[in-house]
Amino acid sequence: MITASVGLAILGLREGIRLPEVRRYTVPIRDLPAVFEGFRVVQLSDLHASALLTAPHVDALVERVNALKPDLILITGDVVDGLVDQRLEDTAPLAKLRARYGVLACEGNHEHYLDYEGWMRRLPTLGIDLLRNECRTINHRGAVLTVGGVTDPWAKRFGRELPDVRKAFAGAPAEGPRILMAHQPKPARHYDEAVRLDLILSGHTHGGQLWGMDMAVAVLNATFVRGWYRLRRSRLYVHSGSGLWNGFPIRLGVPSEIALFTLAPSRADTEKAG
Ligand SMILES: [Fe+2]
Repeated sequence: MITASVGLAILGLREGIRLPEVRRYTVPIRDLPAVFEGFRVVQLSDLHASALLTAPHVDALVERVNALKPDLILITGDVVDGLVDQRLEDTAPLAKLRARYGVLACEGNHEHYLDYEGWMRRLPTLGIDLLRNECRTINHRGAVLTVGGVTDPWAKRFGRELPDVRKAFAGAPAEGPRILMAHQPKPARHYDEAVRLDLILSGHTHGGQLWGMDMAVAVLNATFVRGWYRLRRSRLYVHSGSGLWNGFPIRLGVPSEIALFTLAPSRADTEKAG
């Protein structure tokens, strides 16, 4: 029993700290402007740069992302664990992330645990545009795409700004595709009802991390564990995480990932045109 447990723990740790695999998806978007067909968005989530996942790991991850030549990189929270001063070297490689329209991010619950204000200042120095209940408009060959980001529900425990999706998209163009970054998927149905969205990108669950954990993770996260979910008006993708929290550093059967989304017109649009 002891040998089997130790063996599984070693296996789980090895899987947990392995470089993430790339998962590719074509994402149908209703009324997608033609110029956005083939637009490439990389989602990273839950990198958890820490004493476990240090600079060489982050550097190799960045290299793998850049090789995909994305148009846009979105990071859905839990970038680091630790104090800013402790993690200066381990987060430095993030400054080398490259995408035509840059790197946008939202915060996760782990940003709240230690040195929140410090991380809110540090991440932008790495070229990461942190969206805290705000949005950015990307102008691409005469059409627009809007990306919003909400704060994390953990803000409540620290008296910080709560997630507010209406505020995030206030003043956003009415037309064009819209993507929301929200670390925790739990409020996704509320976000879907509150504003017009095409795609919601979340993380937080780490995909469940282990075989057999799905039910517990689903209960804690309003049924969302990993992968795609159809909401009333939009789609939700729950990322399995690009790293691992060093407080529970095991993965078994749920590998980490780099998600690459290629935007495409929806079938309804194709039928309309045909
Ligand atoms: Fe996380």
